[in-house]
Amino acid sequence: MKLKELQSCLQQVDVFEEPKVLLEQYPTSAHIAACMLYTIHNTFDDIENKLVADLGCGCGVLSIGSAVLNAGLCVGFDIDQDALDIFRRNSEEFELTNIDMVQCDICSLRAFQKKFDTVIMNPPFGTKHNKGIDMQFLKTALSMARSSVYSLHKTSTREHIQKKANDWKVKMDVIAELRYDLPASYKFHKKKSVDVEVDFIRFCIT
Ligand SMILES: C[S@@+](CC[C@H](N)C(=O)[O-])C[C@H]1O[C@@H](n2cnc3c(N)ncnc32)[C@H](O)[C@@H]1O
Repeated sequence: MKLKELQSCLQQVDVFEEPKVLLEQYPTSAHIAACMLYTIHNTFDDIENKLVADLGCGCGVLSIGSAVLNAGLCVGFDIDQDALDIFRRNSEEFELTNIDMVQCDICSLRAFQKKFDTVIMNPPFGTKHNKGIDMQFLKTALSMARSSVYSLHKTSTREHIQKKANDWKVKMDVIAELRYDLPASYKFHKKKSVDVEVDFIRFCIT
């Protein structure tokens, strides 16, 4: 599937109706999601026929993209039932059968150790009284994956993440530097959107 085709397919995915500030519910744009998944699929062959987990799946854009790219099965995990209800509607509309979802708190999830080939995620960045949640997501992701983890992180945290990756003996490569356009979905945002510099990172479990 071509990148453009994947992007226009993901533009059909419905997003949060009433985003919850404290859960950092902003959707990955169809453009960014398509670029991420296209690279994971075409450069690293980490989606097709693989068991894929999507942590903090929200309304499911990354899961649906993985399923469309023929993941063996993609399982989305999120704490919020409202988001999962939208995810379920989305996957029904796409008529996907290689998709499933689990409601849970990623911060206390201890199951699924090494049960997935690939973990993908756009985690909360930890800017809403939840400092460190990005690293908790990463730790859980690394415990669940047998092969690789793909994640978005604020570029300002790169050094810290590199240090942790060294401690955990995991190889880390910044695949792309993105400008992430956060929509002004929250009342306290004065501007229409805020640009945040974000790294798209691949962690390789050896
Ligand atoms: C930045 S959004 C990404 C949503 C979706 N993956 C996407 O790419 O559009 C982060 C997601 O993490 C979820 N989340 C926040 N805290 C969580 C937690 N402790 N456990 C599980 N999910 C959580 C939110 O509900 C939200 O759906």
